[in-house]
Amino acid sequence: MLLEVANLDVRYGRNHAVKGLNLSVAADELVTVLGSNGAGKTSLLRAIQGLTPCASGTIRFAGEDITRLSPPERLRRNLVLVPEGRQIVIGLTVHENLQMGAYCRADAAVQQDVDAIYDRFPNLAARRKMPASVLSGGEQQMLAIGRALLARPKLMMLDEPSLGLSPLLVERLFELIAGLRNEGLAILLVEQNTHMALEVASRGLVMELGGVVLEGAADLLRDDERLAAAYLGGH
Ligand SMILES: Nc1ncnc2c1ncn2[C@@H]1O[C@H](COP(=O)(O)OP(=O)(O)O)[C@@H](O)[C@H]1O
Ligand SMILES: [Mg+2]
Repeated sequence: MLLEVANLDVRYGRNHAVKGLNLSVAADELVTVLGSNGAGKTSLLRAIQGLTPCASGTIRFAGEDITRLSPPERLRRNLVLVPEGRQIVIGLTVHENLQMGAYCRADAAVQQDVDAIYDRFPNLAARRKMPASVLSGGEQQMLAIGRALLARPKLMMLDEPSLGLSPLLVERLFELIAGLRNEGLAILLVEQNTHMALEVASRGLVMELGGVVLEGAADLLRDDERLAAAYLGGH
């Protein structure tokens, strides 16, 4: 397994946000984590990236125990989070935002990778010198994903990337995610768009109150409307 999370706990004071969670992602796999607001999904992803401390448990990545490593150390091991809300710096240009994704890299191939991202996202290339504030929500999400790709991820974690996008842009976003999966990138996808997420994932987990209440093959979860209705609030 590329990522192995065992007995992970995240606490904010007395609020126990993630409770004894177990999760694994193989090198070529797209796993989705579903669940309603407050279930602990963001806390889980932030703990895996090292942005939120874990109270107990272990996180192994590419055969190494990374539980105590800093976020940049995890980034250098090619573990990358596309955060909730995209977190684009609107005072910087599109190009400057993109380059932030390479801040942990010192190799000579950064420029080549930047060019490849502009090839993939022509809308970003056309606006590279403009402030990121001119981008639409969909373009900002592309920028956030492009920035993450610059860290040359082995595993990309995405926290609710479809939030706030129009149905057409959601379609395009999921095409992009499926494309990245087909290129061999491992993906851990947190989504509220249950239906679309289970279309691109091979496996899914449903979180509630910090724990996993349901998990299985994506096609089985997708067909299980009774469980979807019970755990996903009618999505
Ligand atoms: N920085 C924080 N400080 C205190 N409590 C938090 C913090 N972040 C999240 N929480 C709480 O932890 C729980 C899980 O939140 P979160 O991980 O954001 O869930 P989700 O992403 O599934 O909506 C919620 O009860 C939330 O209020
Ligand atoms: Mg969240």
